[in-house]
Amino acid sequence: MTETDKKTWSGRFNEPVTALVERYTASIPFDYRLAEYDIQGSLAHARMLATQNIITQDDLAAIERGLKQITDEIQSGRFEWSLQLEDVHLNIEKRLTQLIGDAGKRLHTGRSRNDQVATDIRLYLRASIDEISHLTRSLQQAIIDLAENHTATVMPGFTHLQVAQPVTFGHHLMAYFEMLKRDVKRLADCRKRVNQLPLGAAALAGTSYPIDRSQVAQSLSFDGICENSLDAVSDRDFAIEFCACAALIMTHLSRLSEELILWMSPAVGFISLADRFCTGSSIMPQKKNPDVPELVRGKTGRVNGHLIALLTLMKAQPLAYNKDNQEDKEPLFDTVNTLVDTLRIYADMLTGVQVNADAMRNAALQGFSTATDLADYLVKKGIPFRDAHEIVARSVQYAEQKTCDLSDLELSELQQFSSSITSDVFSVLTLQGSLNSRDHPGGTAPAEVSKAIANAKKWLSDQS
Ligand code: ARG
Repeated sequence: MTETDKKTWSGRFNEPVTALVERYTASIPFDYRLAEYDIQGSLAHARMLATQNIITQDDLAAIERGLKQITDEIQSGRFEWSLQLEDVHLNIEKRLTQLIGDAGKRLHTGRSRNDQVATDIRLYLRASIDEISHLTRSLQQAIIDLAENHTATVMPGFTHLQVAQPVTFGHHLMAYFEMLKRDVKRLADCRKRVNQLPLGAAALAGTSYPIDRSQVAQSLSFDGICENSLDAVSDRDFAIEFCACAALIMTHLSRLSEELILWMSPAVGFISLADRFCTGSSIMPQKKNPDVPELVRGKTGRVNGHLIALLTLMKAQPLAYNKDNQEDKEPLFDTVNTLVDTLRIYADMLTGVQVNADAMRNAALQGFSTATDLADYLVKKGIPFRDAHEIVARSVQYAEQKTCDLSDLELSELQQFSSSITSDVFSVLTLQGSLNSRDHPGGTAPAEVSKAIANAKKWLSDQS
């Protein structure tokens, strides 16, 4: 083999890999983005090696100097990534050795790429979780801002997409605040399991050098160390868990997107989105299409897919590290990128939502949305709920034939169905009466929605 064909690990090999195998096995086209974390990990490792007298202080100084220069080269775009050098770890190590000589070759003492890459991903993911948590909270703030203007804006609440009962638009929006609140909590919980140090596990069994893992953990701000070396290098459950959190966030936003799309349809007309989130049609001049929410809904498919990809990647791997794990990166990176962009765009999009309160109110007046209120009224007059249900069903049938709402019927007409109905019935048949009566915690009464918003603001400010 010629000198240029030689891999870092190729001492025992008689022929070089083919160009196709080289391309097939390399991860540098995507793992270069771990460079910053790879360097952080290397610095912490080298400092520990020096403290433990495994390398000299001079070697450490050279490593620090070399890694500083490499950081500058990467940041300024001058660093030359090489496919031949396979991955981010070997690219950086090779350059370090070019810059500082033998000290660079000592950096890998007591370490393997297996614990190195596991550390890099955890550092990357920890930073990503912090960013995503922050962006999710900004989106929650945008939801609050919109909900605050609509604590009393009445709209139909749906079940089975059929008009069910009146709710306020603010209440409807705050349902998404709650979903995202659980998402933020889930991320915080996931972060605890991400934030454990694999370094020290070396290839799989640990190392014979007198290392100090807790020093490395501390200097990288990990909460602790992975307790079993085989587990440390081989499991990616923390990444799977993160992808599950991400899939849930996307799923929540996909549901909201579906609603925005529906509400924006001219047939419904509850809202309009700012032009900057929509596009036109190349053939139909009248069209304004809600592309952004449609894409959020569509991209949820790929994020959910990444979760399944990682689960499948893991399911048949014997202990410990296998090269299969290199395939964890692209799904993970794409999950983070998709989520970060989606959260950013969403917060901005919500600030541009225009609400058509008249259309919402008119829709709430269709479909007998206060029928349950009439049944509850009868129950309060001593009629068993099942009988009340039947009385109201017959009243609805009657009003339907007359093509009017229950509140449009004369008292005498209502009394055909039950003599317990008296003139006070009309206050419960109005949208306002219906809303106001649901005034317990979690209910849709405007006063309760205002309280929920106040609680939400407090929760958000406690997070920062
Ligand atoms: N590029 C590899 C990965 O992403 C690094 C670890 C390689 N380890 C090995 N034993 N070949 O997983």
